[in-house]
Amino acid sequence: MAKRNIILETDPILRKKSRDVTEFNEKLWQLLDDMAETMYSADGVGLAAVQVGVLRRVVLVDTGDRLYEVINPILVEQIGEQTGIEGCLSSPEEYGDVKRPMHVIVKALDRNGKEHEIVGEGLLARALCHEIDHLNGVLFKDLAIEMYEIDEPKKKSKRR
Ligand code: NI
Repeated sequence: MAKRNIILETDPILRKKSRDVTEFNEKLWQLLDDMAETMYSADGVGLAAVQVGVLRRVVLVDTGDRLYEVINPILVEQIGEQTGIEGCLSSPEEYGDVKRPMHVIVKALDRNGKEHEIVGEGLLARALCHEIDHLNGVLFKDLAIEMYEIDEPKKKSKRR
């Protein structure tokens, strides 16, 4: 495994649409392993392949219970609503309030190309939506109701 560089929001690649994964081979497994190392070492709860410069529909999510490897995801159900603070590894120290569904069902493939379904609630639903947005070139700031800058832990200052 190797840590990869996380691309920041100023890079136009983050606005591109990622393509489906068609080959489930060692190159994909290497990408998934590298993404996991990159995400965990940055203390993230999610990461999309485009954030390490790979325009493929691959995302990782781990909100604390387990690591989900989510390939070619389709959001098949969105129920309810939640508004809460959100951030992104590509926008360090910036946070915003974003409205998301409270409950989602995502159909996706695993690293071997096998189909599986993820039922996400609360933070997991939020993280899945955020990462799937990345695959379509959408950043959380596009959706934020209000943005914040957090300079130091526990201090939240309103930016605009
Ligand atoms: Ni993000």
